[in-house]
Amino acid sequence: MDRVLSGMRPTGRLHLGHFVGALDNWRSLQDKYECLYMIADWHALTTDYSDTSKIQENVKDMLIDWLAVGISPEKSTLFLQSDIPEHAELHLLLSIITPISWLERNPTYREQKKELGEERLSTYGFLGYPVLQSADILIYKATLVPVGEDQLPHLELTREITRRFNYLYGEVFPVPAPLLTKTSRLPGIDGRKMSKSFDNCIYISDSEKTLREKVRHMITDTERPRLNDPGHPSNCRLFPFHTVFNAKRVSKISIDCKEAKIGCTDCKEELSHCLIEYLKDIQIRRHELEATPKLIIDILEEGAERARKIAKQTMEEIREALKISYKL
Ligand code: TRP
Ligand code: SF4
Repeated sequence: MDRVLSGMRPTGRLHLGHFVGALDNWRSLQDKYECLYMIADWHALTTDYSDTSKIQENVKDMLIDWLAVGISPEKSTLFLQSDIPEHAELHLLLSIITPISWLERNPTYREQKKELGEERLSTYGFLGYPVLQSADILIYKATLVPVGEDQLPHLELTREITRRFNYLYGEVFPVPAPLLTKTSRLPGIDGRKMSKSFDNCIYISDSEKTLREKVRHMITDTERPRLNDPGHPSNCRLFPFHTVFNAKRVSKISIDCKEAKIGCTDCKEELSHCLIEYLKDIQIRRHELEATPKLIIDILEEGAERARKIAKQTMEEIREALKISYKL
C-alpha cells in the first residue's frame, strides 16, 4: 500500500492558493492512502533563521488552518518535523552521499537565492534544503509525495539521492514518486502568483468585510469601460476565482460577461458571496480550534508518537545497511 508524505513550511496563515494548490488535494488523499502531513519548521528556519520570533505562532496558525479545512488527525498523521530527530540524523547521512553539484544546479535554489538575497541564503543549510526534504520523505519510506509544480525539481533530487543510497547500501528505500496537484494554480488578486510576499492573498481566515474589500479592489476587464461593452473573462482577475469557487455558475457568467448581460459590480457581489459561503464553516471551525489550545498540543503529540515509531524503525534499518549498527 502506498504511503503519502507531504509538508508545508509554517509561514503564517494560509491563503486560498494553499487551499486550491495543496490542501484540497491532501484532504481527498486521506481517504485513499496512509497519509503523513508534516509542519516543516526546520525548513522554515533555513530561510528565516535571523528572526525566529514568529515561528511558534505560525506553526499554530497553520495547524489550525489545516484542521479547519478538514485535514483530519484521525485519518492522517499530523506532526511537527522538529519533534522527530530522526529526520536530522538521516539528513546527515544523506548529506554525506549527495554531490554538491546536484544541489547547486537545483533551479529552485538558484531562483530563491536571487529572489530572497544572495547574502542571507549563502548557507550550508539552505543549500541542503532538498537533502532535508529527502530525509523527510525517506524516513517514512513514503512512495507518493503530493507537491505543486514548483517542488518538482526537489523531488527529482530526492529520487536521485534515493537511487544513490540504494546503490551504495542496498535497496532500503522505495523511490518516491511525485503526485502532481491537478488543480490549476489560483492567481492572487493582482493576477500574479498568490503569495504572501506579493501581498495579494485572500486568506482562509479573512473576515467577511476583508473579503468584500479585496474583491471590490480587484481589477476587472480594463477594456470594458461601460456596462454595455462586451467583457473578456480571460482578461479579468475575478474570473479564475469564479472558476474555482462558483463552479456551477461560471460558464453562465462567462457568456453573460461576453454578451454584456452582467455588470462587474454584480459579478463582484456574487463572488464575494460565494467566497463567504465557501469559507463560512471553515471559519467557524477555526474559531472553535482557537479556543481549544490544548487540543492542538494533543494532536501534535499524538502525531509525533505515530511518526516516531516509523522513523525509529527505518533508522534502525538504515544503520544496519550502513554497517554502523555496532554490536561491540
Ligand atoms: N519544501 C516544501 C515547500 O516549501 C515543504 C516540504 C518540506 C516538503 N519537506 C517536504 C514537501 C517533504 C513534500 C515532502 O512547500
Ligand atoms: Fe470580470 Fe465579471 Fe466584469 Fe466579466 S462581468 S469583466 S467576469 S467582473
